[in-house]
Amino acid sequence: MAEAVFDLQGVELVLPAADGPRRILSNVGFSLGAGEILTIVGASGTGKTSLLRILAGLATPTGGTVRFRGQAMDGPQDGVAIVFQDYGNALLQWRSVARNVALGVERELRGEALAARVTEALRLVGLERNANDYPWQLSGGMQQRVQIARAVAMRPAVLLMDEPFGALDAMTKATQQDELLHLRQATGVSVVFITHDIEEAVYLGDRVALLSGSPGSITLSFDVDLPFPRDQVATRELPRFVALRHDMHAAIRATGGHG
Ligand SMILES: Nc1ncnc2c1ncn2[C@@H]1O[C@H](COP(=O)(O)OP(=O)(O)OP(=O)(O)O)[C@@H](O)[C@H]1O
Ligand SMILES: [Mg+2]
Repeated sequence: MAEAVFDLQGVELVLPAADGPRRILSNVGFSLGAGEILTIVGASGTGKTSLLRILAGLATPTGGTVRFRGQAMDGPQDGVAIVFQDYGNALLQWRSVARNVALGVERELRGEALAARVTEALRLVGLERNANDYPWQLSGGMQQRVQIARAVAMRPAVLLMDEPFGALDAMTKATQQDELLHLRQATGVSVVFITHDIEEAVYLGDRVALLSGSPGSITLSFDVDLPFPRDQVATRELPRFVALRHDMHAAIRATGGHG
């Protein structure tokens, strides 16, 4: 297999809270291969966002090791883009959609090159007609797609996505899932994708991990041995898809979490 992009071993996260230190993550370990999509499923409060913040270099684990391309992490890394769960706070309300998407690349690109990069990213999320709108003129799902376009415009080596399609209607969600698979196919981007949605996790993943418990740890992880290209109808009807979905549901029920 290709070189690991991320490698985590025995990661612990303890955060201070009013009633004393709170153990958020315990003994979390996994690796992410180059070009791999790892989906992480877990109930609310199991530490999914906390784990993604660690991968983004926005939080420092209190134990264990996190390596990015073989080096110990020390803060945010070039080539790693994050799509936050809270899109409302992630966008600058006084900037147009195009200028929000430009945010991560406007220091390196100018003029037509910048405009072309922004247009390409907006097209990918189906918002090329909204370039001149402001975030407050868009629906929640559209704002989330602006945030995705902003990450994609940076042509990242790794995309960290925190429940990115949670606010989308079923049809848009399906389209965005397939766009993500195309993006990976076209660019070889590695992805850590957080979701509550078991079907989504299986559909998108090369590998699925279940984060559960309190403190959260990875209690199950398996390869998704479903063929590519995946198809919203045909893939979901495969007996193997149904079996994987079943196993995941059963594992979640066994841990007492909800699905
Ligand atoms: N800055 C913080 N200080 C103290 N505790 C925190 C902090 N951030 C998160 N927590 C706690 O860590 C736990 C996990 O939170 P986290 O946001 O990672 O969960 P999550 O799995 O992303 O949940 P959701 O699915 O609802 O987004 C929660 O108990 C939360 O209260
Ligand atoms: Mg979260």
